[in-house]
Amino acid sequence: MERLVERDRPSLEFSLDGAPATAREGDTILTAVLTLRRHLAEPRLGDGPRAGFCLMGACQECWVGVDGLPVRACGTLISAGMRVATDRRSPSG
Ligand code: FES
Repeated sequence: MERLVERDRPSLEFSLDGAPATAREGDTILTAVLTLRRHLAEPRLGDGPRAGFCLMGACQECWVGVDGLPVRACGTLISAGMRVATDRRSPSG
């Protein structure tokens, strides 16, 4: 995903799978992650990495862990210091 508009929004720092990462204020977690790489998460079942599908909270394809709690990445705004875990094969992800 490439950011085409609103490139001047303030940036913030968060943690993505334990590594430092940068997003823009107002990004959802899904937007923040997909501007950094081509997929959101590895699935618990099935094959192939996932990137979300509906982008509106209906498909359930975008669950990630945030500070140890499950959230939908498409409906959750990123915030400074947030710890996002995307490996859903692990108990904390
Ligand atoms: S992308 Fe469908 S619920 Fe988030």
